[in-house]
Amino acid sequence: MRFLASRVHYKTLIVICTLLTLVTVVLWNRCTNEKVFHSLPRAPLAPPSAGAVGLQQQAQPPEAPPVVGVGVRYEEIDCLVNDDVTIKGRREGTEVYMPFTWIEKYFEVYGKVVQYDGYDRFEFSHSYSKVYNQREPYRPSGVFMSFEGYNVEVRDRVKCISGVEGVPLSTQWGPQGYFYAIQIAQYGLSHFSKNLTERAPHVEVYDMAEEHNSKSNAWSVPKGCTLTTSYDKTRASTVRLFNAPENSEGISLPLGNTKDFIISFDAKFTSNGSVSVILETTEKGPPFVIHYVTTSQLIAFKDHSITYGIGSRLSWTTVTRDLLTDLRKGIGLSNTKAVKATKTMPRRVVKMVLHGKGAIDNVTISTTAHMAAFFAASNWLLKNQDENGGWPIMVTRKLGEGFRPLEPGWYSAMAQGQAMSTLVRAYLLTKDETYLKAAMRATGPYKVPSEKHGVKAVFMNKYEWYEEYPTTPSSFVLNGFIYSLIGLYDLAQTANEKDGREAARLYAKGMESLKAMVPLYDTGSGTIYDLRHFMLGTAPNLARWDYHTTHINQLQLLASIDDSPIFRDFTKRWKSYMKGGRAKHN
Ligand SMILES: *[C@@H]1O[C@H](CO)[C@@H](O)[C@H](O)[C@H]1NC(C)=O
Ligand SMILES: *[C@@H]1O[C@H](CO)[C@@H](O)[C@H](O)[C@H]1NC(C)=O
Ligand SMILES: *[C@@H]1O[C@H](CO)[C@@H](O)[C@H](O)[C@H]1NC(C)=O
Repeated sequence: MRFLASRVHYKTLIVICTLLTLVTVVLWNRCTNEKVFHSLPRAPLAPPSAGAVGLQQQAQPPEAPPVVGVGVRYEEIDCLVNDDVTIKGRREGTEVYMPFTWIEKYFEVYGKVVQYDGYDRFEFSHSYSKVYNQREPYRPSGVFMSFEGYNVEVRDRVKCISGVEGVPLSTQWGPQGYFYAIQIAQYGLSHFSKNLTERAPHVEVYDMAEEHNSKSNAWSVPKGCTLTTSYDKTRASTVRLFNAPENSEGISLPLGNTKDFIISFDAKFTSNGSVSVILETTEKGPPFVIHYVTTSQLIAFKDHSITYGIGSRLSWTTVTRDLLTDLRKGIGLSNTKAVKATKTMPRRVVKMVLHGKGAIDNVTISTTAHMAAFFAASNWLLKNQDENGGWPIMVTRKLGEGFRPLEPGWYSAMAQGQAMSTLVRAYLLTKDETYLKAAMRATGPYKVPSEKHGVKAVFMNKYEWYEEYPTTPSSFVLNGFIYSLIGLYDLAQTANEKDGREAARLYAKGMESLKAMVPLYDTGSGTIYDLRHFMLGTAPNLARWDYHTTHINQLQLLASIDDSPIFRDFTKRWKSYMKGGRAKHN
């Protein structure tokens, strides 16, 4: 009984507080600052706001609120909260308003005053995250979930994009950085998805030796340096051979691009050397220089000079670099886990300068180069898969109190699944069987129990589950499990009957478990990240809003390939939680 009474009290409080507080901020303004208020322009007819939340849409007509408030009197009133603390509120007649700064913290809700269409509004929302709409049935050759909206490289936990590997280096577990298969797969899948959803990039060609109208006299060759044009049999293409001693000014090619910042060139070095890019930025002072040097150094930053090692490059390869990312990771370089934020942006790619001995061709600058990023990720996965078909994670992971830490070398079903989704896409684009074979091998750890260095757990002796973190005891992290299933689905759909049989079986088993267990993650007002409350008997590990929306995005994806009503129904209810919806109580 007491429990029931307090619940009703709680709910009433929510409704009163949130509704009334919407208005409070604006009215307060009026009270304290009447003159200013009256001189504000009258708002024009405002269209209904797309970003507005339910509450507001109901409460607000499409027209700007009329100017009222003259003569309304507010009094201060003490609000005693749960018999615990007293805060100052306001009373207007029979109505009471509580300060939003208090409500915001107390209920973990969000709101701010925003101005558009010429007047201020208070925008309130229950959650901070957004769900996307599954546009069409999910396909292994298509966009990966909502990953076209991901931008892995800008995350402050990405130290930089390695010049040698072309993939992000994570600092999630330490400032020295670490190649993390999940992050690399996400980098690949996001660029793959952007390639399908964005407009084709603008590509400006600066030098292509093969082109008849391309002149080697665009290059500036100082004394002591040479640049010649030569036919390269291995490439069946005309290329430029350069020789520019380290102590020379270097051979340079003016670029002068102010719009796009992805530079790409084919190069082959026969000595140590470098390609440097001179970059004007929004910062006052001298331009920045980004040096791509034939060493294995990761990244360095000194004065206005940023250095990335790109490896020896003794045979022909394409170097594709996002100058914006390279600049900002350089400036933000720190010896902590997070890259420092910077406001500096590139403004103009001035020129490129060569040092050392080698050959170069196909110098371009483009808006984007999604496929280069996608294949860098795919090839990293190929190169770094171990004999068990896994991508071992070489850091210690402590999931939380009560779980034994995972020692370096553990596999993650999420890494396996997302790698499979990446490799399957690389196969579909290239028809190169190497990618498909690697995806097939990636099913290895799914079949091995967690305690034997695999990722398989069993819930209540009945339901097989693939663990994002193969902990002891099992943790049953929901989002990682679903990613592991999507990888299996991609493979089963892509490989022929025989090659895909294993993946299909693991997928069917996993889906059976998911359908049985997904209700365990529903709190009636949100979702739960894992099952530690059951496994360890601790408090539930509630999913914060962005994990909640990940859960919804994942169920939506599954609903598009599996018509069991559970995915549809749960998606609908879980979406309602984002606007304050709650399951019925007794
Ligand atoms: C996607 O990749 C293809 C093949 O490389 C390319 O032609 C196209 O321009 C790319 N589109 C985008 C938006 O990146
Ligand atoms: C430059 O691009 C052309 C056209 O894509 C290609 O045929 C040639 O092999 C490239 N050059 C080198 C050195 O890779
Ligand atoms: C580049 O320099 C390193 C270290 O000095 C040296 O070991 C290597 O042989 C050089 N590479 C080439 C291609 O000259």
